[in-house]
Amino acid sequence: MSTPQPAFGRPRGEAADLSLAPKPADLSEEHVPHLATGEIGPTGRPMRHVPEPSLLAGHGPAKVLAMCNQKGGVGKTTSTINLGAALAEYGRRVLLVDFDPQGALSVGLGVQPHHLDRTIYNVIMERSATIEETVLRTCVEDMDLLPSNIDLSAAEVQLVSEVGREHTLQRALRPVLDHYDYILIDCQPSLGLLTVNALAAADGMIIPLECEFFSLRGVALLIDTIEKVRERLNPRLEISGILATMYDPRTLHSREVMARVVEAFGDIVYDTVINRTVRFPETTVAGEPITRWAPRSGGAKAYRALAREVIAR
Ligand SMILES: Nc1ncnc2c1ncn2[C@@H]1O[C@H](COP(=O)(O)OP(=O)(O)O)[C@@H](O)[C@H]1O
Ligand SMILES: [Mg+2]
Repeated sequence: MSTPQPAFGRPRGEAADLSLAPKPADLSEEHVPHLATGEIGPTGRPMRHVPEPSLLAGHGPAKVLAMCNQKGGVGKTTSTINLGAALAEYGRRVLLVDFDPQGALSVGLGVQPHHLDRTIYNVIMERSATIEETVLRTCVEDMDLLPSNIDLSAAEVQLVSEVGREHTLQRALRPVLDHYDYILIDCQPSLGLLTVNALAAADGMIIPLECEFFSLRGVALLIDTIEKVRERLNPRLEISGILATMYDPRTLHSREVMARVVEAFGDIVYDTVINRTVRFPETTVAGEPITRWAPRSGGAKAYRALAREVIAR
């Protein structure tokens, strides 16, 4: 595999190709019904009108969005990669921040994080490491990655004794805010200090919720945390949206969970719903977003639709 390329200090142009596996011809056009405005969508509500994203005259300052749910396996990392790639397709400059010591976001973009000399850990813990020299380019033009690895787990402990410990990530991101249009933070599955840092740095958060029976358990605790962060650390934090993931339109169970999610959260639930498909685990092996791996698939189309909703909100 190729060596990850730094994102700053070299001309943009041909994006670095970090893919691990050869790319198959994208032959499969998965069936996704195209829904018109007003038609009933998978959320059980009429689809709202979402305008086509406008062209941007310039870039920045970035809107910072944290992908957050303390439950694991709900699609945070998958949504970070694919929403990011779809936003980049719409001409937005995107930085993905891997804020989970597991480094799944980095791996999902073809970066082997344990081989890196510098990661987000160095940026937040060492004054000498700059964010510009740590950010890497990805296989998607205009989408960069601030990688992470297991070193980050030490930060959670070391930060406890720091002054302004909850604002460490916010300080670290400040130098590149004007360079990007969106910064997406992939949070770890906990509500610990790292996640609080992500929420303190964010303008909004997107909560992926899987369409499974127990998915709403724990959401009350999450909302409680958001309210505390809003009161004590970051008054501008808002819930940008709730994203239903792993939806299976064929099962009554999925439809029932979906109905409960809409009942509980109302309009902030995105009209876009991500179906359960094996194509997502495939993309992790491939080390690239579904928008590149299978550009015409239902999954790629769904994340493009989500990107349009995110831009419109
Ligand atoms: N819509 C989906 N359908 C099927 N599998 C999915 C979907 N989204 C994610 N996955 C898979 O589920 C697992 C957990 O997803 P991930 O995005 O890593 O969740 P999280 O970051 O919340 O832990 C991964 O193996 C991923 O490939
Ligand atoms: Mg994850």
